[in-house]
Formats: sequence, structure tokens, C-alpha cells
Amino acid sequence: MPESLVLITRRIPPAGLALLDDAGARTRVLEPDPDRIVDRAALIGAVQHAAVLLTQLTERIDREVMEASAGLRGIATMAVGYNNIDMDAANAMGIPVSNTPGVLTETTADLTFALLLGIARRIREADAYMRAGKYRIWGPELLLGTDVGTGPDGSRKTLGIIGYGRIGRAVARRARGFDMDIIAYRSGRTGSADDGTPYVSLDDLLTRSDFVSIHAPLNHDTRHLIGARELKLMRDSAFLINVGRGEIVDERALVAALRSATIAGAALDVYEYEPAMADGLADCHNVLLAPHIGSASVATRDRMAAIAARNALAHLRGERAPEVVNPAVYDSAAYRARLESMS
Ligand code: GLV
Repeated sequence: MPESLVLITRRIPPAGLALLDDAGARTRVLEPDPDRIVDRAALIGAVQHAAVLLTQLTERIDREVMEASAGLRGIATMAVGYNNIDMDAANAMGIPVSNTPGVLTETTADLTFALLLGIARRIREADAYMRAGKYRIWGPELLLGTDVGTGPDGSRKTLGIIGYGRIGRAVARRARGFDMDIIAYRSGRTGSADDGTPYVSLDDLLTRSDFVSIHAPLNHDTRHLIGARELKLMRDSAFLINVGRGEIVDERALVAALRSATIAGAALDVYEYEPAMADGLADCHNVLLAPHIGSASVATRDRMAAIAARNALAHLRGERAPEVVNPAVYDSAAYRARLESMS
């Protein structure tokens, strides 16, 4: 008898679970404790009985995991990024993979701007100052920061956006409201984007920007895209914001740059060895840190869970998933063979 279980690696918001329940899907949440990582041996053991794997960005879904379930009809991740899933293996094995794009664009752009403003205007230090009871008298030189919008002399700030996809463009829309000049880098692109934003080389972007914001996907080309050389190209008054993926930045090189004031500061939502941070990062005064909360609004996480659940149901029924990332897999012999072996 074909497998019918939707294996959910970790708890998802109720909207997603309700959708699966209403559709009569058999589900199991492997790790119900939100503070615990999924034990890999337990995952490999449990996936054997699964038709669909509903995963999160915290699990490494590689060939070993996929091979553990002969009856796997699809993998749904509750995230837009799917760098944790071995796509070469999924394609070769005829396994459709789906994600949750679009719905988190504005929420993630909001966090990007919150971090950008927060690091420029030293909000973390200001909050700590108040809590420590240090505010005794107003002073003209207290906690001086950097302008994000037009400066008192009329000068405009330049925002360099690395990766000009949905989220990068949503950040640009916010930046226009601050009268910032926007330039973008996207591998292989020259000229201008359809919204008029000029594409420039990475080096050009780094040398010209007051704020550099990373929104590229993580892949072979973007891993350590920003290393010691690139950080040296940035202005010593510039800030780096990363709400994309931690591995795009060489975090040890970043700590060195922050310590030596090669750049003015950084605001990070993602980490190279997440959830760990590179040694010394948390001790830097010129850094603002968040625990990967880019899409963390109640409404957006509910919608992400619902989209992941709809994708999972489609995988379960052998239908095309609404947000499949490897659509060509449906035409592959490996996929057809997989479905036939299950019918
Ligand atoms: C979050 O990082 C996501 O990829 O959705």
C-alpha cells in the first residue's frame, strides 16, 4: 500500500496544520518542541514511512534523507530559500520540491529597513542606555548616528542591493521613500532593472554604497560573495545588512572588518554557521543582531504555513504543487517511475 503520511519535521503555525487536517491528510510532527533541532537519525527513520516531507530551513535534506523513503512524492519547505535541500539529488530522483515565495516579500523588506535604520541610528545602544538608567541629561553629542534619508546638507545616501529579486525590489521601494539613490548587483545583469534601478558590478556597488543590503539566494556562486577583499572595498562609513543567507558573507572576515572599523557596522538576521555566530561577533559594538526573523510576522508565517500545506497536499495527491521550484521534474522519467511504483 502506498505511503500517505505527511511528515512535518517541526511544528508549523496552526493555519497550515488545519489545512492538512481539513483535507484528511495523515500527519506527524517529528519534533514538537520548537526549541529543539530535529534529530537526524530520527528524521531518517521517520521519513521511511512518509509520502511527503514538510520541512523547514533548519533541516539538511540531502540524498541520504531522500533515499530513506522509497515512497517520497514531494518535499515542501516552509521558506522561500531552499538551499538546505539537495536539488541535484531531488531532480535525479524525480522528487518535486516546493517553497513559499512571494508572501514574505514585504515582511522581509520591513525587517531589512528596521535593521538598516536600527544600525544607522544606534537603536540597540539607545535602548540599552535607557534600561541601564544612564539617561540623566540630554546632550548634543549623545549617541550620534548616521542619516539614512537626505542629510542636512541635502546629500543623499546610496543603497546598494545585492540580489535584485522580489525582496531586493521591495527594499528599494522603501528606500525611495527615504530619497536614497539605489544601485543593484545581480549576476550577469547590466543596464537597468525594469523599475529603472541601474545594475552595476559588485565592486562598483561596494565602493559607491553607504548601505549594502544582501538579498541574493545562497548557491555555489554566492557563497562567500562578501569576503575580506569585498569588505575592504566598502567605505569605512558604510554599513552591511544581511537578511539573505549567512553563508553569503565570510563571517570571520566580517568580524575582523568590524573590529578594525574597515566598515562602520553591520546588521544581521542570518549567520554563516546558524544558529552559532563567529567568535567575537556578539562582542562587536557596531553590530545589530536578530535571530533570522525576516518573515516573522503573525500573518506572514500563517500564510507561509498554509502555502506549504497546500504544496504538501498537491505532492501527496501526485498533482503539480502550486509553488514547485523544479517544475521540469514532472516531465522526467524518474518522476513517472516514482509515481508508477506507488500506484
Ligand atoms: C527565510 O529565510 C526563508 O527562506 O523563507
